[in-house]
Amino acid sequence: MLEEIQQTEAASLAELASLSDAEALESWRQNYIGPRGKVKAFMPRLKDVPAADKPAVGQRLNALKSNLESAFESRKAALGSSAAAPPGPMIDLTEPGMIRAEAVARRHIITRVRDELVDVFSRMGFQVADGPELEDDEHNFVKLNIPPDHPAREPIDNFYVDDPRTAARPRMLRSQTSTVQIRTMERMVAERSGPPVKIVSPGRVYRPDTVDATHSFMFHQIEGLYIDRGVTMQDLKSTLLHFARAYFGPTADVRLRPSFFPFTEPSAEFDMKIRLRPEQPERWMELGGCGMVDPAVLQACGIDSEEWTGFAFGFGIERLAMGKYGIPDIRLLYQNDIRFLNQV
Ligand code: DAH
Repeated sequence: MLEEIQQTEAASLAELASLSDAEALESWRQNYIGPRGKVKAFMPRLKDVPAADKPAVGQRLNALKSNLESAFESRKAALGSSAAAPPGPMIDLTEPGMIRAEAVARRHIITRVRDELVDVFSRMGFQVADGPELEDDEHNFVKLNIPPDHPAREPIDNFYVDDPRTAARPRMLRSQTSTVQIRTMERMVAERSGPPVKIVSPGRVYRPDTVDATHSFMFHQIEGLYIDRGVTMQDLKSTLLHFARAYFGPTADVRLRPSFFPFTEPSAEFDMKIRLRPEQPERWMELGGCGMVDPAVLQACGIDSEEWTGFAFGFGIERLAMGKYGIPDIRLLYQNDIRFLNQV
């Protein structure tokens, strides 16, 4: 029986070495070391072995079992790793580089346009000023010379946080960045740091408009304010023109149309003649409001309107961004659909 064991071992190991796939390996396992395998078949025959030889044959049988088991494991490991690694080079050296671009995060269009605007105005000497989005009617209306009965103050057109009929100084989400004009002038007077002052202030504003392709209850404006001795309407127009040319190219133009705002006198709306995209012709685009700061506004902030004059302007950032990037619907800007955001 010892000889038979010896032969079985030699034969099985030779066979194992010649196997090349998992299926053959499995049938080898069943044939030799499985529950109905050849090794197991030796066991019942042990009882026929003479008592004196039993220990030696028993040991040899155990050795056969463990030899075949460990040979099986190492063959399996060797086959497994060579199956995972296909033959031939892993890298196609003929493939052009950077076929798949890295997915790089980018800033939102509104953020980009805001930064571009701030950049252009900074080069013209404007500093960036900030103000709170949760405001009060003092800064959103009163000091901007918007009287108590003015339709712009209607509760239905504003996000009041306090009841405007009862609160002394009702809080609200600001409806325009013109609030930052007031904040800036107040701070400047308190700190005796000006005038002169020259600021732009980009930020969010809120109005309960019904959402459609061109309206949103939240959008962005950028406000400008320049106060100095002897500032005139001509300075306003040349600043806007300078801005238009810096941002849209050397052929851009500006026109003012007479208008009315409570906080400027005279007031105007301004259009820019711009080429939004290279393939398009230039066209006039209504951009925002502007004017000479009303003396009442200067006085409300403690600035002597006999000595100082100034201009202000404000326009919507979405409108500009939509024109510039050919975006047909304002809602696309807030839905955070990555397929849209990656296009622009
Ligand atoms: N605040 C105005 C609006 O939201 C825009 C505006 C008009 C701002 C005239 C100004 C200005 O600074 O002088 O419609």
